[in-house]
Amino acid sequence: MCGIVGYIGKRQVLPILIKGLKRLEYRGYDSAGVAFFHQEEIKLQKSVGRIQELEKKLDYSLSSHIGIGHTRWATHGKVTIMNSHPHQIGKITIVHNGIIENYLTLKKELESKGYLFQTETDTEVACALIDWIKKNNSSLKMVDVLNEAMKKLKGSYAIVVMVQDEQDKLYVMKKESPLVIGIGKEEYFVASDFSAYLDDTKDYIILEDNEIGVTSMDNVSIYQNGILKDYVVKTLNEEVEIATKGEQEHYMMKEIKEQSQLIQKWNTLYFDQKEKLPDITSYQRIHIVACGTAYHAGLIGKYLLEKNTDFEVNVYVASEYRYQKNFLDKNTLVIAISQSGETADTLACVKMAKEKGATTLGIINVYNSSIARVVDFVIYTHAGCEVAVASTKAYTSQVYVLGLLALEYQSKKEKKNTYQELPVKINKLMEYDYSTIVKHLYQKKDIFYLGRNIDYVSMLEGSLKLKEITYIHSESFPAGELKHGPISLIEEDTPVIALITHEETAAKTISNIKEVKARGAYVVLIIEDGIVDSIDKNCYDEVIYLPKTDEYTCPILSIIPLQLIAYYTAKKKNLDIDKPRNLAKSVTVE
Ligand code: G6P
Repeated sequence: MCGIVGYIGKRQVLPILIKGLKRLEYRGYDSAGVAFFHQEEIKLQKSVGRIQELEKKLDYSLSSHIGIGHTRWATHGKVTIMNSHPHQIGKITIVHNGIIENYLTLKKELESKGYLFQTETDTEVACALIDWIKKNNSSLKMVDVLNEAMKKLKGSYAIVVMVQDEQDKLYVMKKESPLVIGIGKEEYFVASDFSAYLDDTKDYIILEDNEIGVTSMDNVSIYQNGILKDYVVKTLNEEVEIATKGEQEHYMMKEIKEQSQLIQKWNTLYFDQKEKLPDITSYQRIHIVACGTAYHAGLIGKYLLEKNTDFEVNVYVASEYRYQKNFLDKNTLVIAISQSGETADTLACVKMAKEKGATTLGIINVYNSSIARVVDFVIYTHAGCEVAVASTKAYTSQVYVLGLLALEYQSKKEKKNTYQELPVKINKLMEYDYSTIVKHLYQKKDIFYLGRNIDYVSMLEGSLKLKEITYIHSESFPAGELKHGPISLIEEDTPVIALITHEETAAKTISNIKEVKARGAYVVLIIEDGIVDSIDKNCYDEVIYLPKTDEYTCPILSIIPLQLIAYYTAKKKNLDIDKPRNLAKSVTVE
């Protein structure tokens, strides 16, 4: 969600900005733009759509060594060139990620001072504010101008500023939206995350909230409240990688396939981190907070922990948790699950939990991300760089870690390692021919997913995958709830996908399938091998057998065919699988 890049150094700026923007594409965007100094003038270029569109407009022969770039994921105002960043007012040009919450109040104030706004964005208001403070306080240094602006801006922002009078500097300011400064040899890079310039430098300053950074060709300084402060340069090692698609057509397929190879790695790495965990037994309450796919992983975690340990676990959507009574105190352990480690709502929950005295544990994929830095304890999921917006391997890695936690604290102290055979089983599901099912699904408007208990949760995730990348409306229902409403939606040929992995609920779910089949549904049954003696062949149209498994590995195995059904259906529809419309990988605004 919005990507920011910046460069100052000896090299030509445009190729560097474009490279960085492309690396940040995964975050989700609908327009892009750059600004750069060329012969003492700030040049702007913007376009809607993909970065390739912006590239077509750029004149690479214009020499420049300092510039900024942005991919915009529209929040305030439509996807138009006018609303795209960079925004420029007076001597100030900026790119911004985040949301200025008080922009309407500021806009009114600035309008009364004579500013005319051309866009619907909050960013243009921030730009005007900086310009106004600068114009009216000619004795202030730019750092102090930005410091004054910070006092007035409410909300979240990562902003990079170019100033007409200062052609040898880039200014950055940050509150609650991520921003890093990469340090090269006589060159500096600015980016929303490390992945933009990993091949250029591994040395970074991670900006903290309310900090302002000033970079010139040969120096960087960090300020807080107008006062110069020391900073730490973090050197990244093998924890971060630059992702490539390899031989696959899409990142999503590459990431689905990787799941079987990652299991062994996860096993070793998790046990390396175990020592650093809090003593979970010392808490009275465990709350899991997360969004999207990570929330579904949390629900699986609840199931595994409650089934096998004596903990009661409650799972909350992060954007709701903040606004409800949540009983947070020092006896609460809050587990925040997040692939990116940047999700604004999840981050806000962690901060709130800490303020109220709770202990926080992050289950995070991206090394050194905002949530990873704020939590008291962190377990990295080591899924590697996930590029496709629809999360796959990050989800299974989260489920895996939660399973290991449940194993660790299980009440019956039996030693199990149920994960060893998982790679072979996953590969078996990869080989299944999904084409007949996909042919039935790809032109449909609605698809329903059914399951009971943990299978219902897996279906929530399966259904989310489908809607994210195929744009087909889909919903997951607890099979037992069918008769309380959803069954009225079943018509001739409505697709219903059902999952059965537990013996105790199998017979009941099979009855529910029969009910939809009797009303004309096209039923795809995904069922664990050998779970029932025999199934009436009339109750489904297609069946996928899951290799025999146990409760820990079952949610990992069950999600594979659901990920693949979503993937192949989107492929059949010829859609942009890795970058589905309107979605962002990293949701850095609330
Ligand atoms: C976005 C992504 C999802 C992800 C969710 C939470 O919606 O598109 O794939 O599950 O954010 O992200 P997180 O990085 O916190 O896991």
